[in-house]
Amino acid sequence: MFLLMAADYDLTGQIVWPGAELLNRYITQGSICLDGLSILELGSGLGLTGILCGRYCQKIVMTDHMDKVLKVLQRNIDMQSSLSDEHHNRTMMCEKLEWGNEEHINNILQNHPEGFDLIIGADICYQQASLHPLFKTVKSLLSHEACASKQFILSYVSRARSIDIALFKEAENQSLKISEIAGTRTWVHDNILEGTLYQVQLRNDE
Ligand SMILES: C[S@@+](CC[C@H](N)C(=O)[O-])C[C@H]1O[C@@H](n2cnc3c(N)ncnc32)[C@H](O)[C@@H]1O
Repeated sequence: MFLLMAADYDLTGQIVWPGAELLNRYITQGSICLDGLSILELGSGLGLTGILCGRYCQKIVMTDHMDKVLKVLQRNIDMQSSLSDEHHNRTMMCEKLEWGNEEHINNILQNHPEGFDLIIGADICYQQASLHPLFKTVKSLLSHEACASKQFILSYVSRARSIDIALFKEAENQSLKISEIAGTRTWVHDNILEGTLYQVQLRNDE
């Protein structure tokens, strides 16, 4: 069982987005090994991707900036945890993280001093104004000494050429290297939208 929300206000975090479909497929196909990893997810929404990761990894911290979304996310986590004692030694949790909010970023890093092996985000680049705080956040997290393998996997769904371009520009502005993961470009959302996975890392000279 998995809770969805319906309302007459901002529904952004209250449905499962096509980017989740793309990243979920990549995970379930075993294209990435999550065994034993500690993962941080940005813009988790209802948490389908994070909860899926929870089946494979050691620890997943899902985040979002909307309190209403975090409430449903927590309920979905609780439901999944109660359904499976098979994963009892794995940790799934959610915390508030608004991109660009230094206090939130510091809280996350303080609460998890052992850091994260991997940062993920599905369908979180759809508004030009959010790209700067998002990539700034990614840069802060990847730069933290405890973030071991220092990579962010972004599941990106293309909806506007201007955002396709701004994405690369913003990564460049933050001195981040962004590269498409080979073989991941595909159609999603009933073949209406094209999406792909990007790997984002600190540049070697950083
Ligand atoms: C398009 S939804 C994607 C949700 C989920 N990852 C999925 O693929 O179904 C984008 C998510 O990012 C969150 N979000 C948007 N702007 C944000 C910000 N500035 N800081 C943190 N989260 C944000 C929204 O609340 C929403 O849950």
